[in-house]
Amino acid sequence: MIDAVNLTKKFKDITAVDGLTFHVDEGEVFGFLGPNGAGKTTTVRMLCCLIARTSGESRIAGYDTGNDSDSLKIRKIIGLIPENVGLYGELSAYRNLDFYARLYDRTEQQRKESIERLLRLLGLWEKKDHPVGTFSKGMKQKVAIARALVHDPGILFLDEPTANLDPGAAKTVRDFILELKKEKKTIFLNTHNLEEAQKLCDRIGILKTHLLRIGTPEELKEALWGSKTVIGLEEVSDMIVAAVKQHTSGKVVVEDHRLVIDVKNAGQENPGLVQAIVAAGGRIQFVQEFSPTLEDVYLKTVRETP
Ligand SMILES: Nc1ncnc2c1ncn2[C@@H]1O[C@H](COP(=O)(O)OP(=O)(O)OP(=O)(O)O)[C@@H](O)[C@H]1O
Ligand SMILES: [Mg+2]
Repeated sequence: MIDAVNLTKKFKDITAVDGLTFHVDEGEVFGFLGPNGAGKTTTVRMLCCLIARTSGESRIAGYDTGNDSDSLKIRKIIGLIPENVGLYGELSAYRNLDFYARLYDRTEQQRKESIERLLRLLGLWEKKDHPVGTFSKGMKQKVAIARALVHDPGILFLDEPTANLDPGAAKTVRDFILELKKEKKTIFLNTHNLEEAQKLCDRIGILKTHLLRIGTPEELKEALWGSKTVIGLEEVSDMIVAAVKQHTSGKVVVEDHRLVIDVKNAGQENPGLVQAIVAAGGRIQFVQEFSPTLEDVYLKTVRETP
């Protein structure tokens, strides 16, 4: 549904995005993570036909984002919540949405229905006739979300949709994104909020001008750490460590009262490890799978790359 091959953008002497290759499937929620200046917004702007790429290729639903006639087709099937909201402050919420809906040749009836549905869903129906210039940041953000959806696009680009929102408003927006996910929309989400990414995204890409990693959160964890079993003991002795090392060819690390053991297949290896420890006189308090968070994955990836 969204494809990039060697997609590159240079601004004079700055390379903002370098050789980006990835694919997002229909109905997938794809999270794009990366530090400030990593090129996330630049990527979204190229994919939404707002800026020209320098080289490489990108396609939305098979249409070329670098081709003028294709970009008209792309604009009809995508919705964008940009980094900077950009609404008409003097117009009411309703008029702002109606203005955009008209750009998409919606009939008056279609416009009415979709604007009312969206404003009600986002809790802004009561405020529909107030000028957007008088709205708070979070309310403006919600109008921007409604605007991105007013023509019922199948593909959505969300550039930090919950940045600057209070926890309640952020939750409303996240729940809304989950609803869109249920409707099988394809969603490309730029975010700095790792909990949000973990909750919403099927797959994650980590960008720092180059694409550093891509995969499901589980795949990224596995790729960075492999599988590990953590065994908590009342006391760790040399004899216990020796017994474990005899039993496995994986790395064994002692951390306080815990053994962290590299395993290939936890289900097959754990019973033998436990037996070996007990036979060596160890008293086991717990056996756990080592489970790094998405934050661990992100920080390890970004810090390891200059
Ligand atoms: N119009 C422009 N002219 C020149 N440089 C630009 C322009 N737009 C972006 N850049 C540069 O491209 C790089 C990537 O910027 P971009 O906005 O894509 O980052 P980002 O990942 O979205 O960052 P953030 O997390 O802060 O939103 C930065 O070095 C930025 O200064
Ligand atoms: Mg950005």
